[in-house]
Amino acid sequence: MNKIIVAIDGYSSCGKSTTAKAVAHALGYIYIDTGAMYRSATLYMMEHYIDLSNPKAVEQALAQMSIQFHHNNRTGKNETFLNGLNVEEEIRQMRVTDRVSEVSAVPIVRKAMVAQQQRMGRKRGVVMDGRDIGTVVFPDAEVKMFMTADLNIRAVRRQQELLAKNEMVNLNVIKENLAKRDQIDANRSEGPLRQAEDAISLDTSYLTIDEQVDLVVGYCLSRIFEKQQALNSAGTLG
Ligand code: DC
Repeated sequence: MNKIIVAIDGYSSCGKSTTAKAVAHALGYIYIDTGAMYRSATLYMMEHYIDLSNPKAVEQALAQMSIQFHHNNRTGKNETFLNGLNVEEEIRQMRVTDRVSEVSAVPIVRKAMVAQQQRMGRKRGVVMDGRDIGTVVFPDAEVKMFMTADLNIRAVRRQQELLAKNEMVNLNVIKENLAKRDQIDANRSEGPLRQAEDAISLDTSYLTIDEQVDLVVGYCLSRIFEKQQALNSAGTLG
């Protein structure tokens, strides 16, 4: 009853997903990586040579596409499945990252993803990270965070993530990709990346992951407490 929705939006590589995962773990909530959904849709469009300027073709592709998350008990992590296939690794590769903003700017793609995200969060008790969670997907989320960080710091973080997966990418190439994605994400007509009026802004440039997580968990616990108090007094009054 007192479960809340935690929306974590912001620029690419600010530590949103690492923070969101840890916050979900601390609260015993489900973590939903909406970027993985746009990445999976992008992979599908690439593999099927879908012409993004043809709305009928995009609509048909969306109807053929099923994106799901499954928990891997061995790794303890959630993995992304596209039409039954585990695409967790593939969707993080640069060739997908290079095209994802283009695909996620298509309004009918967003409509389909937003509808699925709203279904996933209808019972609350979720931490969702993305670009439009606090503005479009769950404007009534009890906690809304908006993360930012210095572009150079974000690029170094992304390079380290890729290196850990044995992909060596030049820092300038990563910087260009991040800047281009920020630009497309912030300027598209549907669900652009922007801070919700009631979101708390968090610059993660000089914060450790533990500090980010502690801050967000702190906000969540106070909102859960407030919600419980409201429920208790409604119960007393009723
Ligand atoms: O969080 P990420 O870097 O994995 O997201 C990949 C891309 O997906 C990002 O460049 C923009 C898009 N995206 C979006 O448009 N809306 C969301 N809610 C999440 C991601």
